[in-house]
Amino acid sequence: MASYDVIIIGAGPGGYVSAIRCAQLGLKTAVVEGRETLGGTCLNVGCIPSKALLHASHMLHEAEHNFAKMGLKGKSPSVDWPQMKKFKEETIGQNTGGIEFLFKKNKIDWLKGWATIPAAGQVKVGDEVHEAKNIVIASGSVPTSLPGVEVDNDGGVVVDSTGALDLPKVPKKMVVIGAGVIGLELGSVYARLGSDVTVVEFLDAITPGMDAEVQRNFQKILAKQGLKFTLGAAVQSVDASKTKAKVTYKLRKDDSEHTVDADVVLVATGRKPYTDGLGLADLGIEMTERGQIKTDAHWATSVKGIYAIGDAITGPMLAHKAEDEGMAVADVLAGNHGHVNYDVIPGVIYTTPEVASVGKTEQQLKDEGRAYKVGKFSFMANARAKAVQQGDGFVKMIVDKETDRVLGCHIIGPGAGDLIHEVCVTMEYGGSAQDIALTCHAHPTFSEAVREAALACGDGAIHA
Ligand code: FAD
Ligand code: NAI
Repeated sequence: MASYDVIIIGAGPGGYVSAIRCAQLGLKTAVVEGRETLGGTCLNVGCIPSKALLHASHMLHEAEHNFAKMGLKGKSPSVDWPQMKKFKEETIGQNTGGIEFLFKKNKIDWLKGWATIPAAGQVKVGDEVHEAKNIVIASGSVPTSLPGVEVDNDGGVVVDSTGALDLPKVPKKMVVIGAGVIGLELGSVYARLGSDVTVVEFLDAITPGMDAEVQRNFQKILAKQGLKFTLGAAVQSVDASKTKAKVTYKLRKDDSEHTVDADVVLVATGRKPYTDGLGLADLGIEMTERGQIKTDAHWATSVKGIYAIGDAITGPMLAHKAEDEGMAVADVLAGNHGHVNYDVIPGVIYTTPEVASVGKTEQQLKDEGRAYKVGKFSFMANARAKAVQQGDGFVKMIVDKETDRVLGCHIIGPGAGDLIHEVCVTMEYGGSAQDIALTCHAHPTFSEAVREAALACGDGAIHA
C-alpha cells in the first residue's frame, strides 16, 4: 500500500494532464489506468487514430481529385488498408508512449488495473488499497447504445467508433447512424477510401447545435464529396448477418418505413459517461439525470476529497475541455485558483474542409434577444485558399451590436481548426472585432479570412 497526495482514476486527456500538473505543483501523484496503454479514449480509440486515418485518406483524395489540375499526372495511389492501419497504430504508439515518458519524467506512478473507491481517501486496484488525500475521477465515456441495435466490434459489421477505426477491410457500402462529429469524420474517411456512405440522422440537419448556415454549407460540401444523407429518420432496428446488415428507419415527416443495406453499419449516436465499477452509488456521490458525476464550480463532487473532470461530468465531451479541467483541478488541489472559461471552448470537426466554432451561434443570440452584427468572408476571395484549391467555406464572426465585442465565430474552410484560436484568444481577453481587424495578418494566409470577417463587422472587408 502506498500513500499519495492525489490519485487520479483514468489516464485520458483529463487524467494524464491533471497528473502532470499535480506533479509539477509538487503533489505526490498516482494514476490508475486499466487499459494497456495511457492516453484514454482520445489517444487509443478517438482523436488520434481518427486524425491519422483522416490525413491518410485526405492524401488519397488530393491525389485522385486535385493533382492532375496542378500538372501532377499519373496513376493515383491504391489503398493498402493493412498498411494504413499500421500507420494509424504507429501514430497511436508514438503518442501513448509519449505519455508514459512524461509520467516517468514527472515521477508519476501508474497503478495498472481497474480502480474502485471503497471510501473517500482510498482507491483499490486489484487486491491493493492505496491511500490518497484527494481522488480525481477522470474515467471518461463510452459510446451510447441504440435500442434494437447490437454493436459487435469484433464481428466488424455493426460497429461503434472503436470498431470503425479497425475494420478488417474497407466496406463497399457503409451506413452511418448519426450525423454528429464521429459519423461525419469517419464517414468521410471511408467515402474517400471508396465506400458508398449513407448517413442516417434523426434530426433535420447535420451536426446539431452548430450554426445553421455552417450546417447547410457543410452538408452540401460533404454531399459533393459523395456522402449521402437521409435526414429526419428514426432508426428502428439493425438486422445483421456475419457479412451484411439491414438498417430499418422511419421518416419522421410521414412515418413511412424504409430499409437500407450495408456491409458495415457505424453507430455514432453519442457517448455517455463511464463510471462502472467505481462504487459511486455506495459512496453516495450525486449524479445528474444523464448519468454524469455532479460537481461544483471547483470540480468537487458531493463527497469531500473526491473530484471529477472530463467526459464523466457535464459539458462538451472534448479532449481539450477535459485537459483544461485536469489542469484546473490540479491547481485547486494545490491550493491555487483553477480556471476554465466554459464560454470559450472551441469545437472542431477535422473533415476537409475543417469546421470550427466557438462561442454563440446566431440562433442562441436570437433566443437570448441580444442585438448582434455578423461579419462574413468567403474563402473563395482568399488568395491562399485559391492557390491550394480550397475555396469552399467562409468565416462568420458574430459581435455585440453596440460594443463590437466578439461573441462567437463559425468557420468552415481550410485550417479552420487552427484559425479559430485567434478568435478564442480575442474572446478570452474580452476583445472586439476591431482588435482583430487592426492586427496585421501575414499574406497570403488563410488567417486573412478571419481578419476580413472582422473587418466586415465594421467598415467592410477589403476583398469582398
Ligand atoms: P477518456 O479519454 O475516456 O479516458 C478515461 C480513461 O479512464 C480510459 O482510458 C479508461 O480506461 C480509464 N478508466 C475508466 N474507469 C477506470 C477505472 N475504474 N479504473 C482505471 N481506469 C479507468 N475530442 C476532441 O477534442 N477532439 C477530437 O478530435 C476527438 N476525436 C474523437 C474521435 C473519436 C472516434 C472519439 C470516440 C472521441 C473523440 N474525441 C475528440 C473525444 C475525446 O476522446 C474525449 O472527449 C476525451 O478522451 C475525454 O477525456 P477523458 O480524460 O475525460 O476520458
Ligand atoms: P454527437 O452527439 O456528435 O452526434 C450524434 C448524432 O446522432 C446526433 O446528430 C444525433 O441527432 C444523432 N442520433 C441520435 N440518435 C439517433 C437515432 N436513433 N437515429 C439517427 N440519428 C441519431 O455524437 P458522436 O458523433 O457519437 O460523438 C460523441 C462525442 O465525441 C461528441 O460529443 C463529440 O464531442 C466527441 N467527438 C469529438 C470530435 C472532435 O472534436 N473532432 C470527434 C469525434 C467525437
